[in-house]
Amino acid sequence: MSSTNFSNKPISKAGIGLRPQHLEYVLSELPSINWFEVLTDNYFGPGGESLKELEQIRSHYPITMHSVGMSIGSSDPINWDYVKQIKSLADKFDPGWVSEHLCWTSAHGVHFHDLLPLPYTEETINHVSDRISQIQDFLGRRLLIENVSSYLSFEQSQMNECEFVASVAEKADCGILLDVNNIFVSQYNHGDDAIAYIKSIPADRVGEIHLAGGEERDGYMLDTHSREVPEDVWTIYKAAIAHCGDTPSLIEWDNDIPHFTVLEQEASKATTIIRQ
Ligand SMILES: [Fe+2]
Repeated sequence: MSSTNFSNKPISKAGIGLRPQHLEYVLSELPSINWFEVLTDNYFGPGGESLKELEQIRSHYPITMHSVGMSIGSSDPINWDYVKQIKSLADKFDPGWVSEHLCWTSAHGVHFHDLLPLPYTEETINHVSDRISQIQDFLGRRLLIENVSSYLSFEQSQMNECEFVASVAEKADCGILLDVNNIFVSQYNHGDDAIAYIKSIPADRVGEIHLAGGEERDGYMLDTHSREVPEDVWTIYKAAIAHCGDTPSLIEWDNDIPHFTVLEQEASKATTIIRQ
């Protein structure tokens, strides 16, 4: 399929993270959504039905590509087979941008199914930014890196998370995907000041904002992506929009997934805040 068959609408205002449960509804009803973010890892492999579905989505909507397994922070060598698959899909589907998490998901060849946090040190900044630069050079495009939620912190950390994210982005010359729910989770679990975090992030590097709802269990806020965006997260989001301006914003929902119209209502709330 040639890129001339793709929707060339701009990516703006609020989008929705596309999940398999909504595919049939979206392709039959073509709801008025500005853009979708697709999980790139779902489309690895030789092709088949899922790629055909993605072609159909792409013919109606602009997309961004989000991945979870690049393991940017790992001490293992960069997994170039993984990055090649990202490049192949990005070259084919022409996403607005490609994003990944500022974390590690594998070590010594063992893969975990969690986005694990990094110690915030100069050594980590150098290590991670060098890897992002190599990956960006290979992809021929800039990455957005996303702050992750965490349930522990490292004694070795020499700075706060915001300084760490900003330093990595500056050194690697990449963009930032600011997940305001993850900032809320860190505030809840570690007592960080979410609004101070937002006010210190370099606004000109923030290319996208994520919104989601988590759940409190045993005194910890968990990043479950299983609920409507709570009021505390909307408050942080409003501060982020005030600081960063009109920024494409995405509703993420991965567990206890409701009908698509619930996500549309959440996206509509985000668009209203951006317009205000
Ligand atoms: Fe996110």
